[in-house]
Amino acid sequence: MICRQATLEMVRPGDRVCLAARNASELSRIASDLQIRRKPELVITRLFDTNDFGDHQRFIEEIHQTLGALDIILVGTGVLGDQIAARSSIPAIREILNSNFVGIATLLSSVANIMESQRSGIIAVLSSVAGDRGRQSNYIYGSAKSGMTAYLSGLRNRLSDSGVRVLTIKLGFVDTRMIAGMGGAFLRASPYYIGRRIVAKLDGESGNVYLPWFWRYIMLVIVHIPEGIFRRLKL
Ligand SMILES: NC(=O)c1ccc[n+]([C@@H]2O[C@H](COP(=O)([O-])OP(=O)(O)OC[C@H]3O[C@@H](n4cnc5c(N)ncnc54)[C@H](OP(=O)(O)O)[C@@H]3O)[C@@H](O)[C@H]2O)c1
Repeated sequence: MICRQATLEMVRPGDRVCLAARNASELSRIASDLQIRRKPELVITRLFDTNDFGDHQRFIEEIHQTLGALDIILVGTGVLGDQIAARSSIPAIREILNSNFVGIATLLSSVANIMESQRSGIIAVLSSVAGDRGRQSNYIYGSAKSGMTAYLSGLRNRLSDSGVRVLTIKLGFVDTRMIAGMGGAFLRASPYYIGRRIVAKLDGESGNVYLPWFWRYIMLVIVHIPEGIFRRLKL
């Protein structure tokens, strides 16, 4: 949902765009919407599953060839998953780790090599404030996001001399199906607002961005709570 909103904000008339996801009918709906509202020169759709690791290099090379260049990649795949089930189910833990981290890291390795050789590009990935500190209620999801954040930090350092910018977008609560039924309603941002802020951040920024901004300060407090107190808070 967040990526969809950001894409609608980002695309300009004349752009060449690839939309990739695992739901074919949703992809064609978004592509039609984009064509009507933003008038891009080209929109292609591709089925994509982060768990198909072996296919990622061929997938990115084919898109690169079809579009002619890779200027911006925005990645927003992820599942929150069932954190309780994942304590005792290997398939459940694998799905959370693969969808939020492993599959994105393998995909980006091909993207990074192409952008490094063209000496330009922007890599932007939706991570989460959950990656800033492991909490007992969602440390599996949080650790995947933390891994993603660390991967992007290293990638940003590696690509710093090549003109490629790497943006880690650490999101707080955003009102999408991912957190339907959960608490924290007063802290929730709308996906439309977040989509607009992501696109604004693509212009010029590199590094870690918190959205909405106040999460930077909430997490500053949270990461400094001593372990003994943090444990008793049962977060
Ligand atoms: N909403 C929040 O409060 C929040 C907070 C922090 C971070 N984030 C992060 O923001 C990103 C976007 O989340 P959202 O809120 O927009 O939720 P969403 O609407 O559920 O979007 C997640 C997207 O990831 C896709 N996906 C999941 N596993 C995949 C896989 N193995 N291969 C390909 N696609 C896969 C889903 O595809 P299907 O439709 O096929 O399932 C869905 O399109 C996620 O990375 C999420 O972790 C969200």
